[in-house]
Amino acid sequence: MRNTFILIVLLSMFYVSCKSPGSTSGDANIDRRVDSVMALMSLDDKIGQLNLLTSDWDVTGPTFRKDYEDLIRQGKIGAIFNAHTAAYTRKLQKMAMEESKLKIPLLFGYDVIHGYKTIFPGIAAIEAAASGLHWTFAPMVDIARDPRWGRVMEGSGEDAYLGSLIGAARVRGFQGKDLTDPLTILACAKHYAAYGAAQAGRDYHTVDMSELVLREVYLPPFKAALDAGVATYMTSFNELFGIPASASQFLLRDVLKKEWNFSGFVVTDYTSINEMVEHGYAVDHKHGAELALNAGVDMDMQGTAYLRFLKELVDEKKVTVAQIDDAVRRILKLKFQLGLFDDPYRYSDEEREKQLIYAPEHLDAARDIARKSFVLLKNNNQTLPFGANVKNVALIGPLGDTQHHILGTWRAAGDNAKAVSLLMALQQEPGFKVVFEKGCDIEGTDKSGFAKAIAAARAADIIVLAIGETAEMSGEAACRTNISIPGVQSELLAELKKLGKPIVLVLMNGRPITIEKEVDMADAVLETWFAGTQAGYAIADVLTGRYNPSGKLPITFPRNVGQIPIFYNMKNTGRPISESKYTSKYLDVSNTPLFPFGFGLSYTTFAYSNLALSDSLLHSNDSIVVSVKLANTGNFDGEEVVQLYVRDLVGNVTRPVKELKGYKKVFLKKGEEQTISFTIKASDLAFYHSDLTFKPENGDFMVFVGGNSVDVINASFKLQ
Ligand code: GLC
Repeated sequence: MRNTFILIVLLSMFYVSCKSPGSTSGDANIDRRVDSVMALMSLDDKIGQLNLLTSDWDVTGPTFRKDYEDLIRQGKIGAIFNAHTAAYTRKLQKMAMEESKLKIPLLFGYDVIHGYKTIFPGIAAIEAAASGLHWTFAPMVDIARDPRWGRVMEGSGEDAYLGSLIGAARVRGFQGKDLTDPLTILACAKHYAAYGAAQAGRDYHTVDMSELVLREVYLPPFKAALDAGVATYMTSFNELFGIPASASQFLLRDVLKKEWNFSGFVVTDYTSINEMVEHGYAVDHKHGAELALNAGVDMDMQGTAYLRFLKELVDEKKVTVAQIDDAVRRILKLKFQLGLFDDPYRYSDEEREKQLIYAPEHLDAARDIARKSFVLLKNNNQTLPFGANVKNVALIGPLGDTQHHILGTWRAAGDNAKAVSLLMALQQEPGFKVVFEKGCDIEGTDKSGFAKAIAAARAADIIVLAIGETAEMSGEAACRTNISIPGVQSELLAELKKLGKPIVLVLMNGRPITIEKEVDMADAVLETWFAGTQAGYAIADVLTGRYNPSGKLPITFPRNVGQIPIFYNMKNTGRPISESKYTSKYLDVSNTPLFPFGFGLSYTTFAYSNLALSDSLLHSNDSIVVSVKLANTGNFDGEEVVQLYVRDLVGNVTRPVKELKGYKKVFLKKGEEQTISFTIKASDLAFYHSDLTFKPENGDFMVFVGGNSVDVINASFKLQ
């Protein structure tokens, strides 16, 4: 099977280089074929291609229409989303190919965010393609620095550099080297742009920032997706500079299509054109359609504003046929590149679907990727991994036996029944017995289960307490002002603590949560997020020591909500934190996070020493090598993500106190040491100046190396 690029989950902060980016560049032959189809199309036929509607197989937004099958027959739809399986996509495709006038194949899209059936951030293109899908609405590349925002669970965290690498890797994973490969699907960089900067972490809320910050922090992952060949973009719900993204000429025509020369197509998010009315930017849906097409939107998701009004707008000379032709051409080129005009049913093959869905190698990959994504946050007295003395395990907590929540909220076609809960996995372990008591629900105040949980724990050698959020507490339209552990789960922990037995917290949550008191009460804390279809096995691999955890946090964990936004690459300010009064700090909590960006422990320990630079002077057309000695000083073989940060001490604009510029994941046997090196070029130090030019600037720099963004050793160099 095609070598599949397996996304190494963001939390392990490394990625495996993969094939060259997917090709979306049309060729002369396709252009000619597009021209031949367009020559047959009436204006109505063209407008139909700009219309994307949801089927009734999944609900991902506030509106729904039942007439989509009729509209397919009338040639008034170019693409359908939320319809999947080989059988159902074949059924709808047949309507287009046998009952519509021009027989233009449909495009099938779906939110294959963390997998299609086998849910985990990884092999997704194969299973999606096998189920008739041509297009995923992923990767979501929104940088987010506010964990109150529920959609942090979908992205790659707070850092533009890391988010860019992961976004590009995901595009390559979905699109492969060649879109004619029937196991590749179109990717979609979303939500363009700056959706993650919603004020107060409230979904769909206003975004307001300078163009400098937009270009420095929020656009880089979108540009990285473009450089990786992403086929489509999705506009975001939010406004930016006072203009809804779907009406932003700046974002769509100036930056994306002109400055970046994007040749694919732009789809709106769900009814975003219609929502310009609520934004107070369009008078009505017809005005929204005019604004969107003029701004550069090619396809209207679920709003039918294009379908209803573009023809009138052409007659009123408020939009042009040339604009519509450009949009149609962009869409048809990708349908040709996918091979849909050669064989509209090539993705809708039920035999292939049976072979590929839940293929053993996918489940194995799900388990491997999941355990690599876990972050060990605390491990006092080597509580983990289970020692030989552990013969009785008490698994307690509402997330100990869930097959639902472990799939998270963007679960596409994932099946709870196929998911492996932590209890199911631990029950298969030969080395110890496990008893399970839920103790309480995730939410609510009912403590009636505490007594049985405590009784079960009393008889155990170790307590594993699985607590956290419901899958529905993060994701779209799922923001929280209080991001602590809900219900009475923490009180259950406090009661279990009284038994004086070792307690391992297994956290399941879609965002950073405020867990300072829970961490204090626990002996070990393992962050497992929502780890997908093989979550139970992956967690068991770590608890038993079969896998030594290596993941790192892609997003800061605050001590409390009051600290938000708190992120590693902040500015120094004119009164940086110190002991004296007049400095930038709080009276009631420190400026430090509970766990910083890049943090993650191992069962072993690593020591950094001998940081050396090949030169203390970096010339603008040259590079320097940063090297550091890494030693595995503990009792386990293990992997460490060595992180490289720089600081530009004085800039044309103020610069962050640290910026991630590289990382390498290294395996060292216990006792082994290695010298790890990074190369820094002047271009790596470029930034947006006050005049928005992007270039490096001579001056003094510091370089930091370590296993997270705080515990680092440093050296200095000068760029000249
Ligand atoms: C939703 C989401 C978007 C998703 C789309 C289609 O509203 O914002 O990420 O791709 O609708 O389901």
